[in-house]
Amino acid sequence: MHLQTLVALLPVLGVQGIRIIQSNDDGWAEQYARSFHNALIASGHDAVLSAPAENKSGTSSLDIEPSPRTSACQYDSCAAHSGPIGRNESSPRLNWVNSFPVTSMRYGIDTIGPQFWNGQAPELAVSGPNVGSNLYLAVHFSGTVGAAVYAAKTEKIPAIAFSGASEGTLAWNASPEAQRSKVYAELAATLTNAVIASGKPYLPEDVFLNVNFPEVGGQCTQASQFKWVLSRINIGVFSAADVQQCGKTRLPTETSVVDADGCYISVSVGDATDKTTAPAEKQAVVLKKLQSMLTCLP
Ligand SMILES: *[C@@H]1O[C@H](CO)[C@@H](O)[C@H](O)[C@H]1NC(C)=O
Ligand SMILES: *[C@@H]1O[C@H](CO)[C@@H](O)[C@H](O)[C@H]1NC(C)=O
Repeated sequence: MHLQTLVALLPVLGVQGIRIIQSNDDGWAEQYARSFHNALIASGHDAVLSAPAENKSGTSSLDIEPSPRTSACQYDSCAAHSGPIGRNESSPRLNWVNSFPVTSMRYGIDTIGPQFWNGQAPELAVSGPNVGSNLYLAVHFSGTVGAAVYAAKTEKIPAIAFSGASEGTLAWNASPEAQRSKVYAELAATLTNAVIASGKPYLPEDVFLNVNFPEVGGQCTQASQFKWVLSRINIGVFSAADVQQCGKTRLPTETSVVDADGCYISVSVGDATDKTTAPAEKQAVVLKKLQSMLTCLP
């Protein structure tokens, strides 16, 4: 991770440290979420992680009160019988909730985060990076997206869901830190910082961003090799026109962006009320904010 680079860039971007709540669905001890947490902290943000005690992939928008753990958390990251909620006592910004991604996001926003922020709410919610892509129909089942959508729709906190196509489980303490975990963290922090630098409100109401990174490997091994493309979640054959971008009024689907030859990242403007593509006027707000970093598919 080129954290020095990120930190050095901050004054240029004019990014200020803000209160960020973080969740995922692969579990609080998954390396992708930890690398991203470290990148947010290195960027000067007041980030707090509140994520499920174990892998709760595919649980969409389920939300049930946490129950006491009987077994150890994933990768032995907490002891058995350690209650319904817990944290890393030596890094208390790292918290687990023994329930679903949405529940962990809800606790993070309402209870855990405010303990670090003088009772204040987070200014931004981020989820992931998920282990594996969340494209098109998968968006509806993803707990990583579910947590972001909960923040945007129910709590009215701007939210971004990140997913990476490179799969394979990685414990938080697997050493050395995986290159894919570092690259995804750096990319996720870059977009997060760009959204913050664009000023408040960070995103239109009831909008979340669904961001998908292609695989790390081949010609795509460093964050600097990746490019950002504005996309749509679902196929838009019968939908109203999208915002005009790259000379068209139909954005590419996120699947076509991530599958394109090259290192293209899809950034979709999602509607938090139904997890489909947000209308053109909301896409336009995001386009204006991110214009300088976006490119067109060849
Ligand atoms: C808890 O934090 C300490 C200190 O940062 C670290 O060494 C340890 O690996 C962490 N454990 C978990 C499960 O997060
Ligand atoms: C979580 O579980 C799902 C299937 O239930 C699996 O596809 C995914 O790879 C797992 N993720 C991790 C990080 O273990």
